[in-house]
Amino acid sequence: MCKATSTADSQLRSNAKPQCSGSKKSEKNWSSTKLVIKSYAFLPFQIALLLVLLTIAAPILFVFLVCHDLIMFALVGKTYLYNMSWEDPAIDQRVFNLKDDDHVITIASAGDNVLDYLIEGAEVTAVDFNICQIALTEIKIACIEHLPFEEFFRIFAQNDIELLRERYATVLRGSLRKEVQDMWDAQLPYLKSFMYSGSSGFLAKLLVKVIIPLCGLSFIEDAVRRRMPKKEFLELVNKYHLQVKAVAWISDKVLLAAMCLFAGVPKRQLDLTNRKTPLGDVLTHIFYNTDLTNDNYFYGGYLLGEFTETCCPRYLMKEHYPALQKAVAKKRLHLVHGTFVEACNQAKGRPFTVSSLLDHMDWMPIPMISAELALLTSKMDLKRGRIFWRSFSDTVHSPPLMWLNAKKVDDHDDKVGMYFSTWISHTKDVDFEALDRVDRLAVQNKGLLSQLKTGVKIVTFPMLQSFYKMSAANNSKSKHGKAMEAFYAHQKEDYDSFRENMLHGRPWLMHSFPIKKEGKMVWVDVGGGTARNLEFMPKDVVREKFSKIVILDISPSLLEMAKARVESMGLSDIVELVEEDFTNEAAFKKLPAKGSVDVVTMSYSLSMIPDKEMAIKHAS
Ligand SMILES: C[S@@+](CC[C@H](N)C(=O)[O-])C[C@H]1O[C@@H](n2cnc3c(N)ncnc32)[C@H](O)[C@@H]1O
Repeated sequence: MCKATSTADSQLRSNAKPQCSGSKKSEKNWSSTKLVIKSYAFLPFQIALLLVLLTIAAPILFVFLVCHDLIMFALVGKTYLYNMSWEDPAIDQRVFNLKDDDHVITIASAGDNVLDYLIEGAEVTAVDFNICQIALTEIKIACIEHLPFEEFFRIFAQNDIELLRERYATVLRGSLRKEVQDMWDAQLPYLKSFMYSGSSGFLAKLLVKVIIPLCGLSFIEDAVRRRMPKKEFLELVNKYHLQVKAVAWISDKVLLAAMCLFAGVPKRQLDLTNRKTPLGDVLTHIFYNTDLTNDNYFYGGYLLGEFTETCCPRYLMKEHYPALQKAVAKKRLHLVHGTFVEACNQAKGRPFTVSSLLDHMDWMPIPMISAELALLTSKMDLKRGRIFWRSFSDTVHSPPLMWLNAKKVDDHDDKVGMYFSTWISHTKDVDFEALDRVDRLAVQNKGLLSQLKTGVKIVTFPMLQSFYKMSAANNSKSKHGKAMEAFYAHQKEDYDSFRENMLHGRPWLMHSFPIKKEGKMVWVDVGGGTARNLEFMPKDVVREKFSKIVILDISPSLLEMAKARVESMGLSDIVELVEEDFTNEAAFKKLPAKGSVDVVTMSYSLSMIPDKEMAIKHAS
């Protein structure tokens, strides 16, 4: 979402030129100059105080950096991470075009976007593995069911927690599920404000009440309170560019890990961006691409500590309350405490037409994304389906997502701007099928003794090479071929069992494998060894989707094992085994014609081929 490609620094220098004239202009310039002089007068003290604070905080920040995910996931179940949904639903509306017959599956988060989808008339299944997020969403639903709009607004926009406590005891508690009651029984007595609750609310308070004022940027809060015109606000931003730079620098260089931890951004997600100044870019986006002082409920809310009637999310607008009450009365929302996979498995009734995945694809490794997409698409209406996600990466970051043929969504004005790209895939336009993979080895693990034996053979190979070379039935012409066969001939039976614990990238490769809907695929597995990779696909998928699979390898011993596997899988009519050195021209005579192959894989084989350049050339 954050379209700011240059850093905050350069943007802040080049924008917001004052445009007044005559005496008014000089008057205005003088008052702005006074403001700037005033702010710079305190700068040395502010810098000193900041340095002292950062020095004191350094050990804590270091612990946050090292134990990032540990601390973040420890918070799950104890508090909610997101007191507000960190996704601007206006972007979702732009591409969803929701109707009454839509069924959206999404993550509950703070429930704000769930309510937004309900306003549009859609049925919604919302899931969250953090019971506290579910509790936050469920209490909003209970309030909509039982309270008039004025009270709903006082509670969730103006933080009237006393009113909530009173209504909770008398009206709301009874309509909540037991685990949700338990959460609120424990937390409601201590709640002071929704806006600054949960870990991201805590972070917002720290920024708004400590860091921003300490950096001399209190004018931002003041400008939001006064609803200053954007042009005037940007002039101020330009005048205070040193302080803005300081906030951006501290955020990116000192606080990034800690801020992301409290904002519910795990390490894996953080690593997806290669931007030098991600938070600086976010800041630039907020200032220049959104109207922070007049039309940004998200940061406006955090800065003021509350929402106003004119600056709030849609679910807090009076005109939408009847639609919400109607949706709640018709039980259009299904809340699931669990994982996305559990929600898909429990799904009954109408297939999903929209999967609004928020950013949770950023949290998962390739096999999990692939498994989730396989399950999800099996529960979707593929004629109308839309799969929508946000990412901290500027590109589609994971192969299973790549095969969804997703289009970049126009999110240049996203009010939150915490993600760097947004994607939508229309399932009817996708050429590939997200199909399940098999992560277990079909043959039995051979036990410790076999592992030890194979391990010793591998370790001693460099010393006993000449013995192995003599004793292996070795017809290979090349030196490399002889070496490979000598290495594998004496461990062929135990190869699969031993390598299962070593070649961790294989499942990642095979979950990344694109499978065409239309089938008739041709696959060449170079250095395919024992044909283990075949087993990652269910047999019926292989039969249905592939017209030919070639397993090429230089080692006859491993191909012997491959032959047994192919036969036991009953796939001999599709799978061909070729004994060759892939870097030899001769290999081509035995392979499917150039241009007819859909996928070439090299799983842990490229690293063993001496002429890598030739291997890549031949593969392409
Ligand atoms: C580490 S094994 C990987 C086997 C299999 N792909 C897997 O993932 O289990 C490397 C494989 O590359 C094969 N290999 C090495 N050099 C080769 C070459 N020049 N041409 C074809 N195969 C080769 C070896 O015989 C071996 O089977």
